[in-house]
Amino acid sequence: MGSTYNEQKQKWEEQSKKAIERFPERKEPFETSSHIEIDRLYSPNEINEDYINDIGFPGQYPFTRGIQPTMYRSRYWTMRQYAGFGSAEETNKRFRYLLDQGQTGLSVAFDLPTQIGYDSDDPMAEGEVGKVGVAIDSLADMETLFNEIPLEQVSTSMTINAPASVLLCMYIAVGEKQGVPKEKLTGTIQNDILKEYIARGTYIFPPKPSMRIITDIFGYCHEHVPKFNTISISGYHIREAGSTAVQEVAFTLANGLAYVDAAIESGLKVDQFAPRLAFFFNAHNQFFEEAAKFRAARRVWAKIMKEHYKAEDPKSWKLRFHTQTGGSTLTAQQPDNNIVRVALQALSAVMGGTQSLHTNSRDEALALPTEESARIALRTQQIIANESGVADTVDPLAGSYYVEKLTDQIEEQVNQYLDQIREIGGAVQAVEEGYMQREIHHAAYETQKRIESGEDVIVGMNQYKIDEEVNPELLKVDEYLEKAQVQKTGNIRIHRDQERVEQALNRIKQAAQDQNDNLMPHILEAVKAYATVGEICHTLRREFGEYVAR
Ligand code: 3HC
Repeated sequence: MGSTYNEQKQKWEEQSKKAIERFPERKEPFETSSHIEIDRLYSPNEINEDYINDIGFPGQYPFTRGIQPTMYRSRYWTMRQYAGFGSAEETNKRFRYLLDQGQTGLSVAFDLPTQIGYDSDDPMAEGEVGKVGVAIDSLADMETLFNEIPLEQVSTSMTINAPASVLLCMYIAVGEKQGVPKEKLTGTIQNDILKEYIARGTYIFPPKPSMRIITDIFGYCHEHVPKFNTISISGYHIREAGSTAVQEVAFTLANGLAYVDAAIESGLKVDQFAPRLAFFFNAHNQFFEEAAKFRAARRVWAKIMKEHYKAEDPKSWKLRFHTQTGGSTLTAQQPDNNIVRVALQALSAVMGGTQSLHTNSRDEALALPTEESARIALRTQQIIANESGVADTVDPLAGSYYVEKLTDQIEEQVNQYLDQIREIGGAVQAVEEGYMQREIHHAAYETQKRIESGEDVIVGMNQYKIDEEVNPELLKVDEYLEKAQVQKTGNIRIHRDQERVEQALNRIKQAAQDQNDNLMPHILEAVKAYATVGEICHTLRREFGEYVAR
């Protein structure tokens, strides 16, 4: 008679003890980034899944296994490399290069002046024009940025938050100039101001007016730009600021719920805007925790949207997300090692069911990526998709004792954080009290201590170092760009219909003063008159004031 499960398990425990006498285990305890203890072994008795209610089929509630019934068998995730530097001409060239190399979506990185609503000729912009992204001042720059790129064929993500309404209107205006009606435009604006207060910093206005602009965009796009994702609720930067995987999901979803509440308060029905909410997560180290994190996030969001908000459209229950591999895990030392890190992180995002993916380049701990580095990063995705076989069946990790257990544990800890934030009064309140920021700073400090003590090994950085580092060729942004950009915007101001601009800016001012008006149509008219990002944002600054972090 074969011995029973328990007898066998007992025998394995004895065998383990003996093995440990000779080879003690490497550490005690083993833990994930979220301090979830990792058992030596997972086996059937650890998971008591009710398959239909807890896991379910892909494309069906609660979407643990993915949001589409066939996932990557029908369509790979969108290969969407974040790109942008220097002038609109430079970036347009990079966009077209990446599309020629097979990427399937665009993702715009704007320079800091654009992201915080200053024109290139504003004293505040000095030294930053075109540095960390492309400089966009007026519609003329946006037309150059998308020159010879057919907007009815490609979806574009724009990493823009406080001035998201302005850049979305510029994108709509470029579409119209290309003969593409706004109803056909596809893409995403990040438009997630709460994480800017928490972790990223490119905010302009205080929370209340910021939430109003965001819900104006929800309402306007529901009516006029129905295929555009109106927000990309981001956990990426929360994780980059040092959070754990559980905090990344919990704080992101908490922010998401704040946007849902604000939209409902503004008079929208949940099924009018929820289908176009999107998310953005990090793919960090710890392969299994990352894959389980995405599966847990889908389940938590689906349950809240269906059971708490009573959304009826299944599209409102689906958590659709983009992933970027963890920038903060890249090392300046031995940069080619980063190709391996990024590949593993990208694999975890694919095994977790991402809809869109950016893979970091090996040199991004040192500078913006060279063309060659950006190509290797894209090729990493293409190799995973076409050569590894992992895209050939849906959610292959399902049924793994470890992954299902970890998915449950992450879901449980995320819900504990959500309850805590609900007690504080929701995400906006929690941000204003600094709750999330404190939790993240504590986690970041603990991680940094483990790296400095060598407890966490970073290959090439605190172990396996080499003496002489070969300095790789890095991208240099043309320092004459700033002058040229200032000149270009100066010319736009001279040749535009100044009266039309002033009337449009005045209508924005009036709309800002009237809660019941929607800012978007007025901003659209202003950008079509070649009003600049800075002029529009200054008009709003005068009405809304500026947020000052405590
Ligand atoms: N079966 C059936 N339909 C399918 C399918 C399948 N297997 N796969 C895809 N589809 C459909 C989808 O339903 C969709 O159609 P719909 O819009 O009518 O529903 C269409 O095909 C396109 O698919 P996705 O929507 O899944 O893919 P997209 O790439 O278009 O959208 C997204 C993905 C996550 C929803 C979107 O929000 C997105 O692209 N986000 C990208 C965000 C981004 O790139 N951010 C970069 C930030 S960089 C940054 O901030 C970091 C810096 O600060 C350092």
